[in-house]
Amino acid sequence: MFYPRYRPRRMRENENLRRMIRETRLSVDNLIYPMFVVPGKRVRKEISTMPGNFQQSVDRIVEDAKDVYDLGIPAVILFGIPEHKDTLGSGAYDNKGPVQEAIRAIKKKVPGLIVITDVCLCEYTSHGHCGVVKKGKILNDPTLKLLAKEALSHARAGADIVAPSDMMDGRVATIREALDKEGFTDIPIMSYAVKYASSFYSPFREAAESTPKFGDRRSYQMDPPNSLEALREVSLDIDEGADIIMVKPALSYLDIIYRVKKEFGLPVAAYNVSGEFSMIKAAGRLGWIDEKRAMIEVLTSIKRAGADMILTYFAKEVAKNL
Ligand code: PBG
Repeated sequence: MFYPRYRPRRMRENENLRRMIRETRLSVDNLIYPMFVVPGKRVRKEISTMPGNFQQSVDRIVEDAKDVYDLGIPAVILFGIPEHKDTLGSGAYDNKGPVQEAIRAIKKKVPGLIVITDVCLCEYTSHGHCGVVKKGKILNDPTLKLLAKEALSHARAGADIVAPSDMMDGRVATIREALDKEGFTDIPIMSYAVKYASSFYSPFREAAESTPKFGDRRSYQMDPPNSLEALREVSLDIDEGADIIMVKPALSYLDIIYRVKKEFGLPVAAYNVSGEFSMIKAAGRLGWIDEKRAMIEVLTSIKRAGADMILTYFAKEVAKNL
């Protein structure tokens, strides 16, 4: 009988051996925790579609940010829900808006925590789209000025990194120019460079109250079957000055994460989005899967594909489990 000389099973025999040759190790260093800021005081409302995640007022966000930092998580990303929405999303660039107040409060109480802000209009517009709307169309160029205003107001409040997620063409260059003009040359841009029009965002839209009132986002977010287009999006954003490239969602797009990392070598962030989180939570609650193991397996696979940073609603749970 023939026995191969190399038997892979030899090295899988016990956990200590497996531990020594493990190629990918998920670390708390890789995590970014998304948070939702709302107006008011002492508000902490659980998001029904995303158990364990909350809409919180600034006072509560600060307490939570302290916990996040104490768990060793290096960064958070803030999303805001304004008091009023209007057609031009003016709450997005209101210097007294919930996100701006939250940035100031966090930087005061937890200065070491990196505060990233999501730069987009959809949470602030009455129609729920990520840009200026005219006759049912989402206009690109008029939106750029508003995004630059929003990014600037975040920077002035003390944001460490801005992350445009709107998918308008040319936004990275416009934001870079606006930041540089005011002396914010050291604030990196984390670009949602490759953002697909995905079904996996729906739990988030409850959290951010940002479901479009008409149509969908397919005229600006990417078509899921495309990958060469993803590479074009990335090279455009790098030319425009992006410092970190994001791929979103993560799980159905591991091939994109891999290719982007391989071809461009820049720091890559992957967004393990709300639907990816909620599926595991739901199946875990039904007893259909082992939630903790699934969480670690999924996040490790995102890192193995090439992500340096992972935005995930599991961040706090993972940090406690690592
Ligand atoms: C805003 C934005 C969205 C997400 C992040 N930024 C929603 C969307 O594009 O509809 C989704 C995050 C998630 O699902 O976890 N444009």
